[in-house]
Amino acid sequence: MNIALSPDQVACLGVFDSGVGGLTVLRELRRQLPAVPLRYVADTAHAPYGQRSSAFITERSLAIGQHLIDHGARLLVVACNTATAHAIHAMRQRWPGLPIVGTEPGIKPAVAASHGGRIGVLATPATIASARYQALLARHAGAAQIFSQPCPGLADLIETGELESAALRELLATLCAPLRAAGVDTVLMGCTHYPLIQPLLEAELGPTVQLLNIEAAVAQQAARLWAGLDLPAAAGRLDLETSGDPEELTRFVQRALGWQDVGAERLTMVPRTGLEPV
Ligand code: DGL
Repeated sequence: MNIALSPDQVACLGVFDSGVGGLTVLRELRRQLPAVPLRYVADTAHAPYGQRSSAFITERSLAIGQHLIDHGARLLVVACNTATAHAIHAMRQRWPGLPIVGTEPGIKPAVAASHGGRIGVLATPATIASARYQALLARHAGAAQIFSQPCPGLADLIETGELESAALRELLATLCAPLRAAGVDTVLMGCTHYPLIQPLLEAELGPTVQLLNIEAAVAQQAARLWAGLDLPAAAGRLDLETSGDPEELTRFVQRALGWQDVGAERLTMVPRTGLEPV
């Protein structure tokens, strides 16, 4: 990446999601890279992405990516399966020299971990409908049977911060019923929001189903690429920005992740997309 940093800028690792889901990736990044400056954007005003058009998701991802680069990001982590499915290709085309790590349902590790070859995937409707997800299945499913379960409304409920509400339990029961009926032995959380409600999912799927996520592997890949950039040592710090209400995000982070020392700010640099919600 040849874009020079201004004298007051420090190189950072930029992370984004439609909202709070990418915090599950950020949590792993903080664990694995405590000395790396991190900047996280939650595009809360436009969440959820999972029921939006591919063009909308791509335009938001490019705008947020640019914002992160303008603020010193020299590696981007797309902490959102939906944005990865629809926008990572366009992002890599726009910034060919910039390392970009995506988040995708871990079909390959799930196939390796499954005992019975019956695997459920919980993900947003946009992820499941994407050509990239279908290609992932074609490449890695092999002889395993994959039961893809779109979860409209689930990320929205998680965004409210009510992580144990009756509405959430009711929706989970509906979404997990087809997977239980299919007799899956393994379920993949194919949306970064879902590990925030892992205990509820475990309760719904029962003790014989193993629940897998990809966040630690994403952070591991980011750590490997960051090390290769050979940047000067810096002090770890976290900047959190949201296109929604900063106080709400701060409260969420404190309650759900226990990070008492972090305060979110309002995202001001992203230009409007001009696209209306679909
Ligand atoms: N957290 C996101 C994902 O991993 C998207 C949820 C949404 O905005 O619909 O897909």
